[in-house]
Amino acid sequence: MQTFIEALSAKTGEAFRAAGYDEKYGKVTLSNRPDLCEFQCNGALAAAKEYKKAPIMIAQDVAAKLEGAACFSEISAVAPGFLNLKADPQFLCDHLTEMAGAEHFGYAGEETPKRIVVDYGGPNVAKPLHIGHLRAAIIGESVKRICRFAGNEVIGDIHLGDWGLQMGLIITELKERQPDLPYCDEIFTGEYPQEAPFTISELEEIYPTASAKSKEDDAYKEAALQATFLLQHGNRGYMALWHHIMRISVADLKRNYENLSVDFDWWKGESDVQPIIPEMVEDLKKSGLAHESEGALVVDVTEESDSKEIPPCMILKSDGASLYATTDLATLLDRRSVFDPDQVIYVVDKRQEMHFVQVFRTARKAGIVKEGTGLDFLGFGTMNGRDGKPFKTRSGGVMRLETLISDINEQMYKKIMENHETDPEEAKQTAKIVALSAIKYGDLSNQATKDYIFDIDKFTSFEGNTGPYILYTIVRIKSILSKYAENAGGSAKSCKLTLPDNETDRALMLEIVKFHDVMEGAYREIAPHKICAYIYDVANAFNRFYHENKILTESDSKKQQGWIALLLLTRNILETCIDLLGFEAPERM
Ligand code: ARG
Repeated sequence: MQTFIEALSAKTGEAFRAAGYDEKYGKVTLSNRPDLCEFQCNGALAAAKEYKKAPIMIAQDVAAKLEGAACFSEISAVAPGFLNLKADPQFLCDHLTEMAGAEHFGYAGEETPKRIVVDYGGPNVAKPLHIGHLRAAIIGESVKRICRFAGNEVIGDIHLGDWGLQMGLIITELKERQPDLPYCDEIFTGEYPQEAPFTISELEEIYPTASAKSKEDDAYKEAALQATFLLQHGNRGYMALWHHIMRISVADLKRNYENLSVDFDWWKGESDVQPIIPEMVEDLKKSGLAHESEGALVVDVTEESDSKEIPPCMILKSDGASLYATTDLATLLDRRSVFDPDQVIYVVDKRQEMHFVQVFRTARKAGIVKEGTGLDFLGFGTMNGRDGKPFKTRSGGVMRLETLISDINEQMYKKIMENHETDPEEAKQTAKIVALSAIKYGDLSNQATKDYIFDIDKFTSFEGNTGPYILYTIVRIKSILSKYAENAGGSAKSCKLTLPDNETDRALMLEIVKFHDVMEGAYREIAPHKICAYIYDVANAFNRFYHENKILTESDSKKQQGWIALLLLTRNILETCIDLLGFEAPERM
């Protein structure tokens, strides 16, 4: 369906045409002087040049033609040539009624749906998930859901880092601790044990220990590099260990992501595309794109319009080892053969931007992606502590994601128990739901590319621009709706919207009709923060309405039913939006 602004613009355009001007000047926007009017059209100012006429005269001509138009209740031409407009209540009500009855509230989304891969998460297997991975997970999940809501076929791919030096480090450390393991015995030809020689908590301790050792001990580092090399060349024992590491680590990752309501369609990793690298490299050489430079194999990717230097994309190191870019290029090839995407969106730390510029340019030059494939890098900023520096634990270490989340759950649980007497089990469940909204909304309400301050006290507050405030609003609406169902015995679903009764329900209606424009902006610009800003406005408008009107005791039943219908629509809109952000509302809180 048409968006509200489109509908108003179409009518205004018609009036321009009827008055003898081009209808393109009829674009209506939200008023930037809400004290004077709700909407405005500045077209007369632009038309003045073309028609060599005073803008106010054009505005007056158009206003005369708009007189009696169904969509406006007030139209005035004001100096120097603005049209100040107010929406007609019946028109507003009809538009909302259409929204309430339509799928996705009438949001049309993509005209020709695309196949999209969202590459996000990107954790490194066997290293504990830390808060650095939080943003990728939260933003990526939301981007995936927004793209889906717009009608596309979307795959979320975790793109595990599962083929790097961390594996060699772990193998080296295991070898030191358990020298008798058959995996390291070169002449062993039997079956390797089914059980891994470590648990997840051991694994989480082994990696940092090994990593620290390798920084101080050159021989140890050499051994780790050698183990990585052997693994990457198919050493049987090391491969068996690698499978153990993968199995245990991936199970743990799944549990962690599940707690965050983040879910991937593909659990592919860097290791999966290793077999297709040699042929890809051969092709790059054959086409003449890749050439040797100081022993390494590189592809030049500079373009004339570059304002800063873009270094060549490294394909192979001088020892023949493939690199980060090689794997990402091979992954694009793999995605093309199994899914043939029209667009790939990467949600990764913005410090990796250069890497993606190099990869995207190489992929296009080499025809690794088909012509016209959208390659988008959504680089996110750093999550900082209240001191403005990258978020750390109290003792200055890297905070584990699990610890962070359980701390916030705990804080939320206390808050809920303080607020009112509740069954502790239920309070625990509720705390989890509300805490997740605090974390996700706290992140998503900022523009992704910007750094932001992770302020737990602020994020968990039930007031202000926070996730818990949004949930609180939804819960409040749910409670009114269920009380209405109990008292009046009627279902909210059969209630019909009515004309706004006063300024507060009207203001709420005017917020809700922005839905389509907000969705379109969030989708086209890959910008979840636009949805946050919208639901914050809707929640504020609802709460103002709630405080000014006695909904449940209203004696005019038609008016009451209109309000109930408006509440139902508000709740549905808010719940749809938070689902797109990746969280949900509890029944009570
Ligand atoms: N594992 C990488 C890291 O921790 C992130 C992967 C991002 N995705 C990609 N296709 N390169 O830095």
